[in-house]
Amino acid sequence: MVKGEDGADKIRADKIGSEKIIRKPVLRRNIRPRKERNKERSALEPPTVAEAEAKKMRAVNPAQYYRQNLGQLGFGDPEHALVQTIKELVDNSLDAAEAMGVLPEITVVLAATEKEYEVITNRIKDGGIRRFPIFKISVEDNGCGVVRSKVAKAFGKVLYGSKFFSFKQSRGQQGLGVHAAIIYAQLTSLEPATITTKTETDEKAYRVVLKIDTEQNKPIVISAEEVPFDRIHGTKVELMVAGEFTKKVESFIKELSLANPHAELKFILKPTVNGEEKVIHYPRATKTLPPQPKEIKPHILSMEPGALLEMISNDKCCRDAKQFLVRHFVRISDLKALQLLSAAKIPPNVPPREINVETLFKAAKEVDIMRPPLDVLSPIGEEALRQSLRRLYPDAEFIEATSREPWSYRGIPFQVEVAVAYGGASVASDCEIVRPGVFKAKVIRLGNKCPLIYDSKDCLLYKTVKEINWRNYKLPQEEGTLPLAPMVLVVSLISTKVPYTVPGKFAVAYHDEIHEQLRLALQALGRMIHSYVTHRQRQEHERHRQSIFQIYAREIARDLSLLTGTSQEEIFNKLMETVKTKLKHPEKRGPLKEEAPKLKAPPAPSIVSKLPPQEKKAREKPQHTLDAFIR
Ligand SMILES: Nc1ncnc2c1ncn2[C@@H]1O[C@H](COP(=O)(O)OP(=O)(O)OP(=O)(O)O)[C@@H](O)[C@H]1O
Ligand SMILES: [Mg+2]
Repeated sequence: MVKGEDGADKIRADKIGSEKIIRKPVLRRNIRPRKERNKERSALEPPTVAEAEAKKMRAVNPAQYYRQNLGQLGFGDPEHALVQTIKELVDNSLDAAEAMGVLPEITVVLAATEKEYEVITNRIKDGGIRRFPIFKISVEDNGCGVVRSKVAKAFGKVLYGSKFFSFKQSRGQQGLGVHAAIIYAQLTSLEPATITTKTETDEKAYRVVLKIDTEQNKPIVISAEEVPFDRIHGTKVELMVAGEFTKKVESFIKELSLANPHAELKFILKPTVNGEEKVIHYPRATKTLPPQPKEIKPHILSMEPGALLEMISNDKCCRDAKQFLVRHFVRISDLKALQLLSAAKIPPNVPPREINVETLFKAAKEVDIMRPPLDVLSPIGEEALRQSLRRLYPDAEFIEATSREPWSYRGIPFQVEVAVAYGGASVASDCEIVRPGVFKAKVIRLGNKCPLIYDSKDCLLYKTVKEINWRNYKLPQEEGTLPLAPMVLVVSLISTKVPYTVPGKFAVAYHDEIHEQLRLALQALGRMIHSYVTHRQRQEHERHRQSIFQIYAREIARDLSLLTGTSQEEIFNKLMETVKTKLKHPEKRGPLKEEAPKLKAPPAPSIVSKLPPQEKKAREKPQHTLDAFIR
């Protein structure tokens, strides 16, 4: 026994076993259930912080979450929200038309109403309140329509849709877009959404007026009825949203038509109640429907290990590990599955739940599994991009487009396309003026054929354009900026899953493979721009030399007239004719990419042949010929 610090008798640990342990008798208190004790205590004492927190805990459903965080979906303020509403509705319409395999025909009507939405601000200038008009927006398409039994959920339940689980290129990916627009509409205007839809087998259309119950994440159907509809199939969505009409609306419309040259787009805009109505009509630039994207299964390497584990635990359809791999993943044949399982030391006939995910992943990286099939994508197409740019910028001096072969990032197929419109008043009017006479290039970013309008600084597409050293291609550029030239650059990414940074789909996240393909595509485009700029510089140089020649032409004509006896006017006219031919020649070639044929000055024997023999000999020396002079 030793004395403790407090002087109490203690049993030393090392003596345990050698000495007898003396236990003090424990006074057993009357133990009552914890619930009873807590109740008693809570009546006397305030709850602990943990208890207070526990009382507040409850599950959050996605509708509640996004109602509070509409900014993540592009509905953070009236200016963004107006463009985002049009974008979400038109994206769905384009997807629905392409799913049906028809050329899209979309009509968008945006009209200001008398109603206003008030926002409290801190700005004294606004008197503490900012007022935004409520716009009525309707988007009508000729898409596949929605089956009646699904209309309420497709528009009234957040994270409900047809695209989330499908590995197929489409504009929509999540089941959020139209729902966010409807929630924003009901928050700002208090008005429900009206959806009129007709499938090809319906006799009449079905009109549903609904709101979203965000507390329950379910639709509140206000009315549902049959109505006549002009189209054989299609959908019309009508919403009332608070918005601010800025020039972004029209630039979005322009970019949308650029990305979808096969779509017929009509916009009827009335930004103010008493103002003029403006109709913007983009007839389709091409009647060729882009190839249908194909649906594929996921690639095993595109999966997170945790997701694979969950898939394995929930699998009810496969009898063994081999069947599981073959049935659920692309590029895994019977033979490949056996190879993979043997590399992972997993017997092929064990039930799927016995697959060890870690060893399977390790083996998948070692065994050579082919990249996913890359012919599943539907790009815009180089020719369609050129036509589209020519339609928007008819006076552009130079238009070109190029694309890379499809590739894959983390097992997900993607493809990169880039295009340029250079020079011309219409291009310059779309570019920012840095200082008088100096323009900064404009970048149009597209993700699965939808314009990405906000957050360009965080976007891989934009950052890669800035990284390129455009000076190599004869374009002026200041360190880390866009090229300083009047040009519009289009950068398009197509994929079965575009890796956006946020659910609002504003910017593309960084992936090595996408970055590399983009860089190569932009460099190829840079080379095309380079050859055009060189050709233009050569033309300029040629014009300059011709103008110098013209200055001296009259004097030469006078001298030659003295020497030859031919009239001065005749010689002068002939000289000018030669100049004109030389000026005309380079223009014939047009401003496009081909290397310019070498300009040859027409011979001028007519004048030399008329000279006396001695003079003639002297003049035939190359340095004195007119050819040499012109050259
Ligand atoms: N115009 C339309 N025509 C046919 N179906 C539509 C239309 N609009 C919406 N839908 C259906 O409603 C679903 C939900 O649309 P929503 O925009 O919320 O999500 P999404 O398009 O699937 O993905 P994302 O959130 O990326 O837009 C769609 O998946 C589609 O099935
Ligand atoms: Mg959508």
